[in-house]
Amino acid sequence: MTNVVVLGTQWGDEGKGKIVDLITPSFDVVARYQGGHNAGHTVYVKGRKTVLHLIPSGVLHEGTLCVIGNGVVLSPKAFLAEAESLKKLGVSVGRNIVLSKNAHLILPYHPLLEGLSEDRRGSHKIGTTKQGIGPAYEDKIGRRGIRVADLLDLDVLKDKIRENLAEKNPLLEQGGIAPLDPDAIFEEFKGYALLLAPHIADVPLLLDDLIKEGKSILFEGAQGVLLDIDHGTYPYVTASNPTAGGVCTGLGVGPNKIQAVLGITKAYTTRVGSGPFPTELVEDQGKTIQERGDEFGATTGRSRRCGWFDAVPVAYACRINGIETVALTKPDILDVFQEIRICTSYKYKGTLLRSFPVESEVLAKVEPQYRSVRGWGRPLAKVSDFAKLPSAFKDYLKIIEDLIGARAGIVSTGVEREDTILLPERLKGIVDLAKVRAAQSR
Ligand code: GDP
Ligand code: IMO
Ligand code: MG
Repeated sequence: MTNVVVLGTQWGDEGKGKIVDLITPSFDVVARYQGGHNAGHTVYVKGRKTVLHLIPSGVLHEGTLCVIGNGVVLSPKAFLAEAESLKKLGVSVGRNIVLSKNAHLILPYHPLLEGLSEDRRGSHKIGTTKQGIGPAYEDKIGRRGIRVADLLDLDVLKDKIRENLAEKNPLLEQGGIAPLDPDAIFEEFKGYALLLAPHIADVPLLLDDLIKEGKSILFEGAQGVLLDIDHGTYPYVTASNPTAGGVCTGLGVGPNKIQAVLGITKAYTTRVGSGPFPTELVEDQGKTIQERGDEFGATTGRSRRCGWFDAVPVAYACRINGIETVALTKPDILDVFQEIRICTSYKYKGTLLRSFPVESEVLAKVEPQYRSVRGWGRPLAKVSDFAKLPSAFKDYLKIIEDLIGARAGIVSTGVEREDTILLPERLKGIVDLAKVRAAQSR
């Protein structure tokens, strides 16, 4: 039994979906602990592309139990649409998907309120995915949220929708949006209740039973450490905790049930939405990375801002999450560069900073200090043996590892499961290599 957290160490889109899909055969359960359908994970299997938002990225493996924890905010509409699109691809989405009773629901007013809030912020807007994530978490913390369990008691559901709309409708009207009809929303959600009921469970109890049976769980983070509501680049963050602590609160499992944390780290940096980004490349090199890396949002289609690898936030991410091993993704995108830069530290007001500053105002003014390395000059794709990778790439990797204080256990060089180099010694106690390798070659 090994339970492992997999989380993004940057601003999201590190390739978590690809790695979770790859290592799922080593686990019995894949459980999401935060976020919602703001996430977008693209997974390729034998050329077939699947985009997942809410349903855990282990779903493509028959027999894996996929759990959505209480820390997630759930749009029933988005969930059902995703389930439907998976069914069309022949993926089974029945009892293998479990929803926590305590997860909060996203209601139709949440995205509308979010739109108004973003408009009000003007040039300071967060650049959210506009899925209603932030307002749903606001209601959760404001203790007026509606939870999955409320779908099972229609009287309670009706009352809560009425109470919430009594508060939200005036806000919508102030913003020039027509008030919503509580009866119509109730009818819509009554329909969802029927469809969701078979999936609803007491997740902490279920996970405890499974752990006692010796089953292994992969805890799947969405977004990334720098988007964490507490530890990220506030206020330009999401409204949940992608950091490892989110597992305990977002699923109801104790910290002693977690054996390792695997960080997913992209060989360069990207960011979607607003907020400071010290190593951002606004000119040609950024465009090259964006085009080669297909850096466009899987949820909103927005182009992702691109820049050189920044070791400062990744070292911070490793420190605050207990990450000792990372999966390095997408170095193949850098194949074409003769010179590659790595940000090693920041100067602020002439002084070197000891750690990553989370104050956005400071981060916007830091001067990144770079080290240049020579490019490797040939494609990394299709190299399946670590020893056969170009020495310039190995130098690049070693510099990154030393700077972030963690070692790479996986090097990913393409979108497919087989485009991945596994380093057995470094993956001990994290994944069962034989199971992963078997799935890779299937
Ligand atoms: P996530 O949100 O962290 O799951 O990442 P996304 O799926 O949003 O973005 C990562 C993108 O990079 C996806 O389109 C993946 O198919 C792709 N990808 C993942 N790993 C690699 C890799 O090693 N090389 C290349 N070229 N693409 C990759
Ligand atoms: P995955 O799981 C990248 C960003 C948004 C915005 C901020 C707040 O695919 O890595 P929100 O809608 O969450 O309130 O938006 O967070 N954001 C992501 N950026 N990848 C994601 O998910 C993201 N989910 C949210 O762009 O800047
Ligand atoms: Mg993504």
